[in-house]
Amino acid sequence: MAQILIVDDDHQLRMSFERLLAAEGFEVRTASSGEAGIAAVREEAPDVVIMDVRMPGISGLEAYAAMREIEPRLPVIIMTAYGTTDIAIEATKMGAFDYILKPFDIPDILKLIDKAIAAGRSMRSRVAVGEEGEQALAADAIIGRSPAMQELYKAIGRAAPTDATVLIRGESGTGKELVARAVYQHSLRADKPFLVINCVAIPETLLESELFGYEKGAFTGATGRKVGKIEQANHGTVFLDEIGDMPLPIQAKILRLLQEQNVERLGGRQVIPVDVRIIAATNRDLEEAVRRGQFREDLYYRLKVVSLTLPPLRERPSDIPLLVRYFMARYGREMSQPDPGVSEAAMALFTANPWPGNVRELGNTVKKAFIFNRGAPLGPDEVQKATGEPLRNGDLAALTTGDALADFVRRQLGSGRESLFEELMDHFGQLVIREALEATGGNRTQASKLLGLSRPTLIAKIEKYGLRIESRVRDSRS
Ligand SMILES: Nc1ncnc2c1ncn2[C@@H]1O[C@H](COP(=O)(O)OP(=O)(O)OP(=O)(O)O)[C@@H](O)[C@H]1O
Ligand SMILES: [Mg+2]
Repeated sequence: MAQILIVDDDHQLRMSFERLLAAEGFEVRTASSGEAGIAAVREEAPDVVIMDVRMPGISGLEAYAAMREIEPRLPVIIMTAYGTTDIAIEATKMGAFDYILKPFDIPDILKLIDKAIAAGRSMRSRVAVGEEGEQALAADAIIGRSPAMQELYKAIGRAAPTDATVLIRGESGTGKELVARAVYQHSLRADKPFLVINCVAIPETLLESELFGYEKGAFTGATGRKVGKIEQANHGTVFLDEIGDMPLPIQAKILRLLQEQNVERLGGRQVIPVDVRIIAATNRDLEEAVRRGQFREDLYYRLKVVSLTLPPLRERPSDIPLLVRYFMARYGREMSQPDPGVSEAAMALFTANPWPGNVRELGNTVKKAFIFNRGAPLGPDEVQKATGEPLRNGDLAALTTGDALADFVRRQLGSGRESLFEELMDHFGQLVIREALEATGGNRTQASKLLGLSRPTLIAKIEKYGLRIESRVRDSRS
């Protein structure tokens, strides 16, 4: 369970935060001053801190500086009012995770907290490289004994303790992000921050300002200064995920960062020296992208000097049983249930045919089989059920063409109702969520995993639809 520390002199605010976050399954600590907050960080090692900027005694900014001394990898969210955003911006320049303006909406702060927890976890939750058993389970682990994986472990060991830029290549779901974290954790900067930027997840227009920041008035809508992630990660490591999809103008700026170790905010005239190590990853064929003019050749050569390539799972089938057993033990632990083990017949299904995906797909399938499993050990039926059939267009078409549903939709389209689309989507949404809750005995954490929704999204929908399902299983945040 994640522990959150609230630092604010406002008693009322601390109380309501405590109630809200406890209901969300967090462990909450509070402190009424910067001084008490610093002591709590030292003694309790929280996962996330949410702190007001303006308090009697030392300010939030001073308190942040002290907390950063104690633990530079601690995500701190600064709360600020309109008049004091300058202080909050100053804090992000020093490395604070983000800031939020008071008054804020609850869903916004919950989303930010989830992001901060994930960021803190990726820095501080250890990645075990090539370990097995208890040591692997106590951490996130890169599992595999095949020769290709052993080569990879050696290469990680060689690349990590240098300050060199590292390029990680491999198909989707082969473990690039795990390897990036392993490199960081074994580096000289292991006790400094590690910031992840996903170049695909952020819209192209925002990526540049996210990375480099901007000055007030740099473009319409730039109402204040924003500190970029690269500046925020000073002295630490920045992980540029999916760099193969980075737009060309931003590639040019990254090249300059690598060559000159400085950045300029958008619309700024000041050259800001930064000291960051870059780790990049991609599942793209970069050589092909260079040929097509989609990736800068000079950046490509600069990046590939130290590269780590992850083998796809089909090139190391001997690792599959090890991975299956690891995932079973791990989900058992996550769901506070005993690991029922895997029958020979079930294991045969995982290993008989070339596995049609990488480690991510294997993990997802084992997770579903674990959820469906009602006995011990895991049998072939559960595996088959979990593997399922891929969702083909034909399956859905058979359900929806030429029948009552299409007629119904056609009639409704003529009805002129405004929210028709949403009503129909909600209808299907309810059906799917009800089934998922049914399959998991009302466990919302597991149901969200089955559906590929975040837990807050699922809960919001359950509330929207007014679904009431009795929980058979203890529901815990994992
Ligand atoms: N060797 C491994 N041992 C254990 N778990 C692994 C291994 N490789 C990948 N995983 C797990 O598989 C999932 C996908 O891994 P990861 O996110 O690192 O893949 P990726 O290569 O970054 O994929 P993408 O290109 O889609 O971003 C994660 O849950 C990760 O923990
Ligand atoms: Mg990835």
